[in-house]
Amino acid sequence: MAKKLYIKTYGCQMNVYDSARMADVLAPLGYAPATAAEDADMVILNTCHIREKAAEKVFSELGRLRRLKAQKSDGGGRMILAVAGCVAQAEGAEIVARAPFVDIVLGPQTYHRLPEMVAQVARAGGQVLDTDFPAEAKFDFLPEASAPQGVSAFLSVQEGCDKFCSFCVVPYTRGAEFSRPARDIIAEARRLVALGAREITLLGQNVNAWHGEAGGGLGALLRALAEIEGLKRLRYTTSHPLDVDDGLVAAHRDLPSLMPFLHLPVQSGSDAVLRAMNRRHGADDYRGIVARLRRARPDIAFSSDFIVGFPGESARDFAATLALVREVGFAQAYSFKYSPRPGTPAASLPEQVPEAIKAERLAELQALIAAEQRAFNDGAVGSELPVLFERRGRHEGQLVGRTPYLQAVHARAPEREIGAVLKVRITAVGPNSLAGEVAAATVRR
Ligand code: SAH
Ligand code: SF4
Ligand code: F3S
Repeated sequence: MAKKLYIKTYGCQMNVYDSARMADVLAPLGYAPATAAEDADMVILNTCHIREKAAEKVFSELGRLRRLKAQKSDGGGRMILAVAGCVAQAEGAEIVARAPFVDIVLGPQTYHRLPEMVAQVARAGGQVLDTDFPAEAKFDFLPEASAPQGVSAFLSVQEGCDKFCSFCVVPYTRGAEFSRPARDIIAEARRLVALGAREITLLGQNVNAWHGEAGGGLGALLRALAEIEGLKRLRYTTSHPLDVDDGLVAAHRDLPSLMPFLHLPVQSGSDAVLRAMNRRHGADDYRGIVARLRRARPDIAFSSDFIVGFPGESARDFAATLALVREVGFAQAYSFKYSPRPGTPAASLPEQVPEAIKAERLAELQALIAAEQRAFNDGAVGSELPVLFERRGRHEGQLVGRTPYLQAVHARAPEREIGAVLKVRITAVGPNSLAGEVAAATVRR
C-alpha cells in the first residue's frame, strides 16, 4: 500500500533542493507526497539553524507533531518522525535526548542513507542519529531519477563553506566546501530540461566558489550549461563577493541566458564591521565588483543580505551601511538583526548591541530597501520585459511568470505558453507582483 510522506522545509534554497532529493530517495520505498502532516505516515522537518528564531520554530513544530503522532498511534496507526537539516546537524544529540518521540535525526550530508534509517526504525524501533560528514560524497549515492520540478528548477552544484564569517553557523552545519564534478552537473541539468525545466538556478552556500576538477570556475560551468538546448534561463545563488572572478564577470557579459540579476550579500557597509565579521572584503571592494558587473552587463540589478546590530556596530557604522545601500540601489534585499549563534566567534564578542537599537536600525534599513524596491518596480511600468511563464494564475485565462529580475508578473496568456518566454508590457505594480499584457508581436498562433 502507498505510504505518504510530508516534508516541511525551513531555511535556504539548498534545503528546498535537499527536501526534493529526500523525497526522491524515499519514493522507491513506496512513499508518495502528502499535502499535510495529518495525512502522513512519515514526516520530515528539514531545518535551519541560521538565526535563533529559525531554530526555535523547529522545537515548537515538534511539540505539535508529538501530539499528532500520539493520536495516530492511539488509533492503531504509525508515524515516523525525522528531523533533518542544519538544526539536526548542530543539535542532533540534544534533539535525541529532549525529544524521544523523534525517530530519526540526520544531518545534511547523510540523506542518501535515509532508506536504511527508515528500515532500521521500522524493524527495531528506537532512535537513529546520523550526523556524520561521510567521506563519500552524498551526491554519488543519490538516485539519478528525480521528480519533475516544473519550469523553474534548482540544481545543487556546491555545498559547504570555508569562509567562516564570524557570525555564521553554515561552515559547522554543512562542512567544508565541496564542488560537484562538472559532468554530473551537466547530466543533471539535461535531465531537468528533459523533464520540462526551462530555467535552472545553480545552488551552493558559496556557489561562486565552485571549481571544476581540471580548474575553471563557475563562469566556465555557466558557459557549458548555456549550450543545453531548451534551457532558456540560468541563475546562481548564493555568491560571496570574494569569489567574483573575471571568468564570472565575462559570463555575465557573454551569455544572454544568464539572467542580469545577482544576489550578492554584503552584510554591512562599514569596513570595521566587515573586518570583525571576517568577511575579507571592504565596502569599496563591493562597490568595485558592482561597477565591474555593471560595465559587463549594463542592465544587471542586485539583491543583497544585511545584518544590523553586529557586536560593536556604532551609529556611524550603521550610517555607512545606509550610504552603501543608497549608492548601489538594490532591486531587493534581505536584512536581519544579528542573532548570536552558539559556537560562533561573534557570539562571545563584547559590545553586543542592545535589542532596541537592533530593532530601530532594522526598521530604518528595511524602509530604505523597501523604497528602493518600489522604485525599481515602478521603473518597470511601461517597459517590455521578457517573462518566463511558470504556472496558471488565480484568475481564469491568466498565467504567472517572472521577469529576469525575479519579479512575479500576472498576464493573460493561453496555458500552452507555460514554459515560454514572452515579451510583456508592464502596466501596473501591485504589492507582490507586476501586471502586464503580452506584447502582440510575441503571441504565437
Ligand atoms: N552563504 C550565503 C548566505 C548564508 S545565510 C552568504 O555567504 O552570503 C543567509 C544570510 O543570513 C546571510 O547572508 C546573513 O545575512 C544572514 N545571517 C547569517 N548568520 C546570521 C546571524 N547569526 N544573525 C543574523 N543574520 C545572519
Ligand atoms: Fe556563512 Fe559567510 Fe559562509 Fe556565507 S560565506 S555561508 S555567511 S560563513
Ligand atoms: Fe539555514 Fe542551513 Fe541553509 S542553517 S540557511 S538551512 S545552510
